[in-house]
Amino acid sequence: MTGRSCFSAFLLLLITLEFITVMGVAQCGRIVANDVDRIQFALNLEFIEAEFFLNGALGMGLDAMAPSLAQGGPPPVGARRANLDGRTRRIIEEFGYQEIGHLRAIITNVRGFPRPQLNLSVEAFATMMNRAMNTTLSPPFNPYANTINFLLASYIIPYVGLVGYVGTIPNLVSSSNRQLAASLLAVEAGQDAVIRTLLYERANETVPPYRMTVANFTNRISELRNRLGMCGVKDEGLIVPLQLGAENRTTSNILSADVNSLSYSRTPLEILRIIYGTGNESRPGGFFPSGGSGRIARSLLR
Ligand SMILES: *[C@@H]1O[C@H](CO)[C@@H](O)[C@H](O)[C@H]1NC(C)=O
Ligand SMILES: *[C@@H]1O[C@H](CO)[C@@H](O)[C@H](O)[C@H]1NC(C)=O
Ligand SMILES: *[C@@H]1O[C@H](CO)[C@@H](O)[C@H](O)[C@H]1NC(C)=O
Ligand SMILES: *[C@@H]1O[C@H](CO)[C@@H](O)[C@H](O)[C@H]1NC(C)=O
Ligand SMILES: *[C@@H]1O[C@H](CO)[C@@H](O)[C@H](O)[C@H]1NC(C)=O
Ligand SMILES: *[C@@H]1O[C@H](CO)[C@@H](O)[C@H](O)[C@H]1NC(C)=O
Repeated sequence: MTGRSCFSAFLLLLITLEFITVMGVAQCGRIVANDVDRIQFALNLEFIEAEFFLNGALGMGLDAMAPSLAQGGPPPVGARRANLDGRTRRIIEEFGYQEIGHLRAIITNVRGFPRPQLNLSVEAFATMMNRAMNTTLSPPFNPYANTINFLLASYIIPYVGLVGYVGTIPNLVSSSNRQLAASLLAVEAGQDAVIRTLLYERANETVPPYRMTVANFTNRISELRNRLGMCGVKDEGLIVPLQLGAENRTTSNILSADVNSLSYSRTPLEILRIIYGTGNESRPGGFFPSGGSGRIARSLLR
């Protein structure tokens, strides 16, 4: 083969791979993307965590705390200060500052994009929670109403960021990018573990005024994410059947992990299906009414 036809064959292969991915045939498999696209993709989740934690703890978000990082993107809809107890507020405040650092680290290393439109309204969470619980909660679930509701809402997003980093790292070519992603992952995993521990302490309490317990909510949210992700079980609630517990020896499940207690991983397509709430990476909605930003998310919207 001449160099030129070899190159053409390579291009054809690339296009075919991309096509298969977009058509949904290989919807759980690898996608074609470079390091910058993959790390920038994570910005979508870091933005939502930053705004949810900062607003929840302090009543103000990036526009007040670190306006340059928003890069001119529209303010989030519906984010507000939550009615948290003092201990939880301190923890969430710290998480919010950590997200500012994550945004700065990503933007400094691989540039970035303006903050996408985020929908952090009571209605957006209530809709997601109704789908998880397979009922119409009355009154609608309000993430900002109290500590337990805010922690349950926090259960929804950081875990998705965490499994996204686990999925991304093996696909990164440059070791400095792998180092960056691993360092982001370590802190995301810590945040997720703290949130899950705080919830586990109250696993058997009912979530007022509903009749279901904290454990019921987490199990249902995890099941919903598995349904939307469409690539099998990669997400487990706080109290599980023995065969999903560590070494099949316990029903407590403070960390969600596979049969060898290794972290689950997800591809960007699975993540988009979940955070859009549509089960379709080409149909925005949920927390991202106009879709995610960056080349991976945008290329799926065309
Ligand atoms: C936010 O989500 C709610 C519930 O889906 C929806 O009613 C509302 O229109 C959304 N707001 C924006 C700005 O997308
Ligand atoms: C949701 O509830 C309906 C009936 O109330 C039931 O038929 C359906 O199987 C439930 N779906 C899930 C995913 O639990
Ligand atoms: C929840 O209740 C179960 C069954 O009564 C009990 O075994 C478990 O220890 C409780 N868990 C917590 C965290 O209170
Ligand atoms: C809620 O959890 C309890 C035990 O934690 C379980 O027995 C019950 O089946 C769950 N209910 C629902 C609706 O998931
Ligand atoms: C736990 O159970 C699963 C099946 O439910 C099995 O595949 C796995 O090998 C078991 N793990 C151990 C350590 O026994
Ligand atoms: C996903 O949404 C796109 C755009 O609305 C649509 O063309 C496609 O058929 C949907 N895919 C599935 C699997 O429903």
